[in-house]
Amino acid sequence: MDIILGIETSCDDTSAAVCVNGKIRSNVISTQIIHQNYGGVVPELASRLHQQNIIPVVHEALSIAKVHKNDIDAIAFTRGPGLLGSLLVGTSFAKAFALANQLPLIEINHMQAHILAHFIDEPKPAFPFLCLTVSGGHTQIVLVKDYFDMEIVGQTTDDAAGEAFDKTAKILGLPYPGGPLIDKYAQQGNPDAYQFPEPQIAGLNFSFSGLKTSILYFVRDHLKNDPDFLKNNLCDICASVQHRIITILLNKLNKASQQYQIKDIAIAGGVSANSGLRDALRNMADQYRWNVFIPKFEYCTDNAAMIAMAGYYKFLKKDFTGQDVAPLARMNF
Ligand code: KG4
Ligand code: ZN
Repeated sequence: MDIILGIETSCDDTSAAVCVNGKIRSNVISTQIIHQNYGGVVPELASRLHQQNIIPVVHEALSIAKVHKNDIDAIAFTRGPGLLGSLLVGTSFAKAFALANQLPLIEINHMQAHILAHFIDEPKPAFPFLCLTVSGGHTQIVLVKDYFDMEIVGQTTDDAAGEAFDKTAKILGLPYPGGPLIDKYAQQGNPDAYQFPEPQIAGLNFSFSGLKTSILYFVRDHLKNDPDFLKNNLCDICASVQHRIITILLNKLNKASQQYQIKDIAIAGGVSANSGLRDALRNMADQYRWNVFIPKFEYCTDNAAMIAMAGYYKFLKKDFTGQDVAPLARMNF
């Protein structure tokens, strides 16, 4: 049996998962809610909490999977990209665990792992496919040629889509992380109530900073005349902003599909949990005869199942890492 322990600590989720012969047996995630008090992730606090949580989270993942530590064949961990202090905790844990148990060590790129989350359950996409990876730190259109042969064909030139959601939420007075709340309010609002601009960016790249500024001015101007504007129109504002973010994303995805003549399309990353994006992608699938792959909710936001899964594919290739490995805050494919 091939048993891989996966470790994820790139941002504010401490997670451990066990993969047995390519199937996920456990996926334990401890989300650090303390950051809500600060309106965003505080890196110093995040690394301290990873340090506190990592051992209990690993114990729980092993116990749910009914796997003893002596049965593990390799340990996979997120090397980057992410917050350096957070990555250091997972990397150090993985190195120590590998050394103590004489196991091979497998480094994983967090963004590749978001994409490889599509190989956890059926139906699995066939290569090549396009993946829109949308998270708190990244917005990319990736041409996926093989498990670890990926090319970024479009990306944001400023804010990420998740940041656009979170910063909008902040402007609207909603707590961090705002994405899920905007999603919730948007479901009761009218997406055509307000028109926010679509940036004119060449090729397959994105920009979200202009949208953020236009929302800021829009709210400021309306509050001048009506102090209750936000309270009375929250759902319509959320629906309109969400609608604009989704159209920006899907218009570029459509362009990429035409450019590369690929109709197998996946979404990944935290923002792929957005119900509006999921519905809009299904509509695009009907309209353009796309074959779409939408991850289960638990595999959209950060999790170690995707790390263990990616680790399994590297394990099959015996693609191991030396003990001198160090984390990378920025990491290319
Ligand atoms: O992938 P992820 O968990 O962490 C990073 O690697 O960044 O993504 C987190 C991002 C946050 O910006 C969060 O607001 C956003 O994903 N997010 C959502 C939803 N759920 C999470 N954005 C919109 N709608 C959601 N339902
Ligand atoms: Zn992520």
